[in-house]
Amino acid sequence: MLEQDIQEVLFTEEQLKARVKEIAREIEQDYRGKEIMLISVLRGSFIFMADLCRAIDLPCTLDFMSVSSYGKGTTSSGQVQITKDLSEDITGRHVIVVEDILDSGNTLSYLLKILQHRHPASIRLCTLLDKPDRRVKPVEVHYSGFTIPDAFVVGYGLDYAEKYRNLPYIGIVKPEVYGG
Ligand code: IMP
Ligand code: MG
Repeated sequence: MLEQDIQEVLFTEEQLKARVKEIAREIEQDYRGKEIMLISVLRGSFIFMADLCRAIDLPCTLDFMSVSSYGKGTTSSGQVQITKDLSEDITGRHVIVVEDILDSGNTLSYLLKILQHRHPASIRLCTLLDKPDRRVKPVEVHYSGFTIPDAFVVGYGLDYAEKYRNLPYIGIVKPEVYGG
């Protein structure tokens, strides 16, 4: 049972659903009359992306990219590499990057810089979770679901060692699971 590895539920399915709807309303207001392009950073944001895009009532295209930030266990490093690039051209598009969690900021500061060089009409970041205490690189956030304390969380797309992504809620893993 997956639940045995969870110490505490931070956000229930219902809370996540309600917050996703609120973010969608914000985005609709900000981009009314425009077409947007949502870019999901795989794999952590796939569930958030799926729920968010269905809650947004605007013309919208979707694309996906994958990055690896070399780091072991529960921390990322400054070295980021694109392992799967976008399929679409973002030039002149209104891009919203959809992320699961903003932690050190290493991954996103790099990614946003690369995407900016491709000349989108605009680019904003939408992250479900933000752990500001751990920020190393500054990153501008336009849409943020929840601010969380410095704890390792899983579920709703987020993993530890590729597991727990399928939990429908977000929870804190017991430290003994990762030997912390
Ligand atoms: P950053 O580069 O340190 O900001 O880390 C970004 C990536 O690290 C996220 O997109 C996640 O994939 C992963 N990450 C950071 N914190 C957590 C966490 O608490 N649980 C699961 N993954 C995390
Ligand atoms: Mg991620």
